[in-house]
Amino acid sequence: MSTATPPRIGLFVPPPPNASRSPCPVLNALSNHGYLERSGRKIYMHDLNAALNKVGMTTLLGSVFAVPTYFDYQDPSKAYLKKPVSLLARIWGLIKNPYTFFDYFGCWKRGQVVKGRRFINLVDLASHGAIEHDISLSRRDIAQPAGNNDAQQDLIDQLLDCSTDGGQSLSVDDLGRFIKARIHQQLKDNPELTYGPGEHQVNCGQVALMMHCFGDGKTIPVSYVRALFEDERLPEREGWSRRTWWPMGLIEFFGAVQTLKTAVGVQFG
Ligand code: HEM
Repeated sequence: MSTATPPRIGLFVPPPPNASRSPCPVLNALSNHGYLERSGRKIYMHDLNAALNKVGMTTLLGSVFAVPTYFDYQDPSKAYLKKPVSLLARIWGLIKNPYTFFDYFGCWKRGQVVKGRRFINLVDLASHGAIEHDISLSRRDIAQPAGNNDAQQDLIDQLLDCSTDGGQSLSVDDLGRFIKARIHQQLKDNPELTYGPGEHQVNCGQVALMMHCFGDGKTIPVSYVRALFEDERLPEREGWSRRTWWPMGLIEFFGAVQTLKTAVGVQFG
């Protein structure tokens, strides 16, 4: 029996052997700080939502991401097996539970239940076509040999290098250009690419969250991005502290996504 005292919650510790990790650098960082299970396993909805508060999100905005994650995973490659749902049934479902609007974000796998409560392991977030999409900043695509879950150092280097102020910070325009360049790169590198307006919205949403929770919405220090992506660590040593006076809410989020989409400037015909 181990007698070692577990590290205190909040302390950064790299993942233990065999830990479960996701394609999301921020959730991995929350796990590495103990705000989520350090093993990355058996994470319950309530804990996921509470952890999002640690990066300065309101409970409502957090729930918009955390609640749908626990809907059933709908594998897009098996979509043809799904029974069609009538419009009336869909509307009734939305009235009963408005979060079902985002049910395609579901990453939960059958059997992951303890005492009636669903849990996920971080790796479940790599379930393709739910929240995970082709064309990430730091991961390759599911159809590529490197897969869609593991951070790729060459992509992180390219991301950090896209600063236009001598390596101090990344602006919305820098990130917009970088996402556009990634789209062009993946169009060449991945013949099985799936990327449309839905994937683009989610992609820009993830980057917008980072800009507003860790940056000032217009810029983010390169040192913070390095800590998040290279170490999967909250950039506290670099000077970051979470927004407490005015956490990020829904309206700010949707505005931020739009600003980033404009900066990327890609139209889907
Ligand atoms: C319930 C909460 C969350 C879930 C389920 C989640 C899930 C994910 C998933 C599945 C990805 C991979 C998408 C892909 O590139 O294919 C991702 C990426 C990302 N997430 Fe999260 N995330 C959450 C919260 C957050 C928060 C709070 C932030 C920032 C404050 C954040 C920032 C990012 C960033 C920047 C990426 C892009 C990584 C990349 O493209 O390489 N996420 N997230």
